[in-house]
Amino acid sequence: MKLKNKSVLITGTKRVGQVVAKILAKSGANIAAHYNTSSKEAESLVTELRAQGTNAISVKADISKSAEVENMVERVVEEFGSIDVLITMASYFKPVKYDEITEEDWDRQISIDLKGTWLCVQAASKVMLKDGGGKIITFSDWAVDRPYKNFLPYFVAKGGIRAMTKALAVELAPSIQVNCILPGPVLLPEGYSEEKTKKIAESTLVKRIGSPDDIAETVKFLVEGSDFITGAFIPVEGGRLLA
Ligand SMILES: NC(=O)c1ccc[n+]([C@@H]2O[C@H](COP(=O)([O-])OP(=O)(O)OC[C@H]3O[C@@H](n4cnc5c(N)ncnc54)[C@H](OP(=O)(O)O)[C@@H]3O)[C@@H](O)[C@H]2O)c1
Repeated sequence: MKLKNKSVLITGTKRVGQVVAKILAKSGANIAAHYNTSSKEAESLVTELRAQGTNAISVKADISKSAEVENMVERVVEEFGSIDVLITMASYFKPVKYDEITEEDWDRQISIDLKGTWLCVQAASKVMLKDGGGKIITFSDWAVDRPYKNFLPYFVAKGGIRAMTKALAVELAPSIQVNCILPGPVLLPEGYSEEKTKKIAESTLVKRIGSPDDIAETVKFLVEGSDFITGAFIPVEGGRLLA
């Protein structure tokens, strides 16, 4: 699929998603930049994209709420007429110690990452199927295969996204291809010390932190590079699992 004049909805465009939006916009895509609380960042992204000639809008939704997701998808279709590509990057990432995990922690994580991804896919795929097809790219994490401490609900939700990706590839074939990116450290949480950052870089085979561009170029490849990839997991983690 070529991106030119195609409509792309990206959830969670504050950090890595922002770079994905910019790179896909350079290939001529219309961009719907989703946010939940980061309205300023979404607005400034849209302003920047429009200044470069991209057809761009920002759309707000708490993705754990079906009515908000349905409104968001309706708004994108109203503006662009279609959704050709859905990229589900919105996620909740906060540490919680094993013996302090509450029911609320669990519900929040599953509602945002797992149910939220599903709600976005459900609403967008209806539009895609009506229009003859599309592409969906979900986001998991390399570390589902080697979880570190204090993120149990996160890893369970991200593991669920992998299972969902495979099941969706089957359900939505042949007209929609569904693939999942497994990022490694590409943009560390704010406040990581220099020492911690260096240690993480050293723990990859390529001896560096990745960048959001590594993710954005992979997304672009999955959309434009081949229509013969579906149900796949693409690690973008500098060989961290092998190191
Ligand atoms: N950054 C990395 O190095 C890395 C490593 C492994 C995996 N990943 C995965 O790659 C993807 C992108 O990474 P990232 O670091 O850019 O993600 P992020 O900053 O952790 O999250 C992206 C956005 O998710 C949105 N979000 C949270 N709760 C939401 C809700 N209830 N409804 C709607 N949106 C909600 C937030 O939007 P608002 O700010 O608008 O509220 C947030 O800005 C994520 O899925 C992440 O898990 C990233």
